[in-house]
Amino acid sequence: MKGKPQEISNNLVPSYIRELQVYQAGKPIDELIREKNLSKVSKLASNENPWGPSPLAIKEMTKSLWDLHRYPDMHAYKLKTKLAEIYNLKRENIALGNGSEGIMAYIARAFLNEGSEVLTSENTFIGFYIIARSIGANLKLVPQTKEYKYDIEAMAKAISPETKLIYIANPNNPTGTYITKKEFDYLMDHVSDHTLVILDEAYFEFAKPCPDYPDSMDYRYDNVITLRTFSKAYGLGGIRVGYGFGHEDLIANLNKVKLPFEPNSAAQNGAWGALEDQPHLERTIRLTLDYREECEQYLKERGFNPISSVTNFLTFQTGSEEKSNRLYQLLLDEGVIIRPLKANEMPDYVRVSIGTEEEMTHFYQAMDKILPEYKKL
Ligand SMILES: Cc1ncc(COP(=O)(O)O)c(C=O)c1O
Repeated sequence: MKGKPQEISNNLVPSYIRELQVYQAGKPIDELIREKNLSKVSKLASNENPWGPSPLAIKEMTKSLWDLHRYPDMHAYKLKTKLAEIYNLKRENIALGNGSEGIMAYIARAFLNEGSEVLTSENTFIGFYIIARSIGANLKLVPQTKEYKYDIEAMAKAISPETKLIYIANPNNPTGTYITKKEFDYLMDHVSDHTLVILDEAYFEFAKPCPDYPDSMDYRYDNVITLRTFSKAYGLGGIRVGYGFGHEDLIANLNKVKLPFEPNSAAQNGAWGALEDQPHLERTIRLTLDYREECEQYLKERGFNPISSVTNFLTFQTGSEEKSNRLYQLLLDEGVIIRPLKANEMPDYVRVSIGTEEEMTHFYQAMDKILPEYKKL
């Protein structure tokens, strides 16, 4: 091979790709078991559903394994029909992909070019920053309020005639906060028809009980695409299936750039089965909200000040990046994986996902054990 690898990539790879940081996922359980030779690990790092998928989802996925020699239904007729029934839409209003992040990538591919102006908030979902930057978009980030909420007034002011896309994670990850109906209305009053709005509602099932949470399905804006997922409340993060709703013209254009056979057949069937099991979903939401309240109380009693959350995770301040890393490392030694938030530009915060009763007890016991050591810092 001629030329040094560095020179080759400098010539071939656009600068906006070279500057990208690879997405960092929560530490896998097996990795920690290998590294520390532990018998028990609680992963509270990726906002998953710790109770797992519905048995109906598992049954449907298992059935579909016998047909794995066939390509999936590229129109996902069965899953789209079910979603259309539930949400009173047409199949043409529904997009599917490998997780909601997969659909986000297709939105970027279909609607953005290098230099397109994209507006969002600081301290929001990293996956979106990576996707927008990978297209070479000009990302405008508006600082959040001091309560770690999207600053909707400032965002409305930041909209320009060039703004092509606005991304709102509602509720937001990693802060767990949400924009209210009033704030959503205010923002939409300032958005023109030629700007597309992504409403990322990955944690919508947990926020829906809040009376002032704007469920995007109660609105009908032609320039809004709602994104939802089976990865969180439905417990299907491992199979990668997300869904989106929007005007049929928008969805038709998304489908032009989408890889034809996503989501795979097991994912399509598993998602269909998950939608059949409302009691499983309700139990997940009830337990999550109960355990979140308990965890919030626990953290407050230990002198931490968690950000008020409407999701399945809590984010709390440590005071410095060093302290966040120390807490993370000490908990890893005890077999508990949480998430430091340096990559989210919140180095003095960490995030803990709500787990099962057993996992939460493990977290509390580990915290009580390591806090004296942690406080020495
Ligand atoms: C706000 C937000 N949007 C989207 C996603 C991605 O979800 P999916 O698994 O559907 O790609 C996440 C995952 O953590 C998230 O926090």
